Amino acid sequence: MRREPKRPGASARPRRPLRVVQRRGGPGPHEFHDHPARWARPHIRTLVVSSGKGGVGKSNLSTNLAVALGELGARVLLVDADLSQANLDLLLGVHPRFDLQHVLNGERSPEEIVVPGPRGVKLIPAASGVPELGELDDYRRECLLRGISQLEADVDLVLIDTASGISHQVTSFCLAGDEVTVVTTPEMPAFSDAYALIKLLQQRGLKRPPHLLVNMASTPEEAEETAHRIQLVARRFLCLEIDSWGYIPYDPAVPRAVRRQEPVVTAFPQSAAAHAYRALAERLWRAPDPEPQRAPQAPERLEA
Ligand SMILES: Nc1ncnc2c1ncn2[C@@H]1O[C@H](COP(=O)(O)OP(=O)(O)OP(=O)(O)O)[C@@H](O)[C@H]1O
Ligand SMILES: [Mg+2]
Repeated sequence: MRREPKRPGASARPRRPLRVVQRRGGPGPHEFHDHPARWARPHIRTLVVSSGKGGVGKSNLSTNLAVALGELGARVLLVDADLSQANLDLLLGVHPRFDLQHVLNGERSPEEIVVPGPRGVKLIPAASGVPELGELDDYRRECLLRGISQLEADVDLVLIDTASGISHQVTSFCLAGDEVTVVTTPEMPAFSDAYALIKLLQQRGLKRPPHLLVNMASTPEEAEETAHRIQLVARRFLCLEIDSWGYIPYDPAVPRAVRRQEPVVTAFPQSAAAHAYRALAERLWRAPDPEPQRAPQAPERLEA
């Protein structure tokens, strides 16, 4: 995990190279084109999920992607970085006793607040209804990220769900990750806010162009058109090539699962949304190659 801002004496962690793997076969039903990057153990990546507009489905994406990756065998640490209005615990159906507020107060270590969730997902929960956590100063946020990064050693992927908007807090979390996915819906206000976020991230020095995910699309064509519009303006006005991670369809199973306090991938595994979350997880995660089989050893010949 990258941390910013850099303070004197802070040592930079060596960046891991992005593993680029060509995908076999054609695009799946929820994809527009191949996405070359996959996480392959033991490379740990930090993926930040963010959006310009609120309520576009970030938390459901983070939760369901984490669980779907967990089903594939990935060890995922899910971080609720919507610090003042956290809800990943509710979406996962877990009941944390402590959260990031206790870490910030110095009462607990990050390790002590980790809650186990479904499919091996580990959650770092945050507080809800604590407005002062919505804008931490840089030093406290740096401490928080430093603490979380200590847990990276035991996981394959850190997935960070942020609040929405273009606040300093949101963009700082985005800049702290290895990669950012910006979520939008096909509605005009959502994708114009997505563009605003992308523009600001670029101005603040985001190293890699963010990815784009269209949520709640009614049809594949609608999703594709939304993605193309953002890609077009980003290319034209920001000189940025943004790749699309496809889309998650609008599916009433999602709010139904939310009411049951379960991720849709486990509550309604056959729903369209669950299929789309799993398809995305499969594109992002490449199971480790099996241990190379040792060739059977020829029995030693005994010399007479
Ligand atoms: N693919 C989908 N189909 C139908 N409803 C969805 C879908 N994804 C999310 N929703 C619904 O949209 C609402 C907002 O979802 P979610 O909380 O994940 O958004 P968010 O971007 O995290 O919001 P916030 O900005 O407040 O953190 C929820 O009620 C959820 O049930
Ligand atoms: Mg959310």
